[in-house]
Amino acid sequence: MRVYNFSPGPSVLPEEVLKKIQQQMLDYEGTGISITEMSHRSKTFEAVCDETVNLFKELMKIPDTYDVLFLQGGASLQFEAVPLNLLVKGKADYVVTGNFAEKAYKEAKKYGDIVCAASSADKNFTYIPGLDEKSFRPDIDYVHITSNNTIFGTKYSKFPKTKAPLVCDMSSNILSEVMDINDFGLIYAGAQKISRPQG
Ligand SMILES: Cc1ncc(COP(=O)(O)O)c(C=O)c1O
Repeated sequence: MRVYNFSPGPSVLPEEVLKKIQQQMLDYEGTGISITEMSHRSKTFEAVCDETVNLFKELMKIPDTYDVLFLQGGASLQFEAVPLNLLVKGKADYVVTGNFAEKAYKEAKKYGDIVCAASSADKNFTYIPGLDEKSFRPDIDYVHITSNNTIFGTKYSKFPKTKAPLVCDMSSNILSEVMDINDFGLIYAGAQKISRPQG
């Protein structure tokens, strides 16, 4: 019997994928070495990375005007990296809809004029606040939202239209449904998880 992990962290992988990993673990495609041991600068490994990026672009229908990056540090590092990279005028608005959204907001506050434009903390994060262009300041560098609130189980059914680029932490529902990438300036995601069904 296989056990499914529904807790935080890695999620279930299809059995055929696990079997392929097992089969290739000692010798990746005739190279005589496993993928975890070979040089990260080898042509073989670079090809794996390129294919992964291309498959990801295909699955999420990501236009060529966007880059796909695989980075260290998980989503939590992006709580800092986003303001450090995107604050130009020094201002951003955050929507606080759960604990991770709140963490992102608190981290960003270290780096600029960061405002909580809307929050559902008043009702223990049980809803997504109504948002429109007027919810945000006019002269900001970006708006930050969290598409799925992992612990509280709420998620956006419609993303807000914003003048400034929309930055989205999609850690717990990336690849779980079709999204229009053009709605976003930046999407990031850390821990893999299965999105909770919404009733
Ligand atoms: C929505 C959301 N943001 C951020 C994080 C933190 O991710 P990481 O563990 O990759 O830093 C999580 C982790 O569960 C999450 O669900």
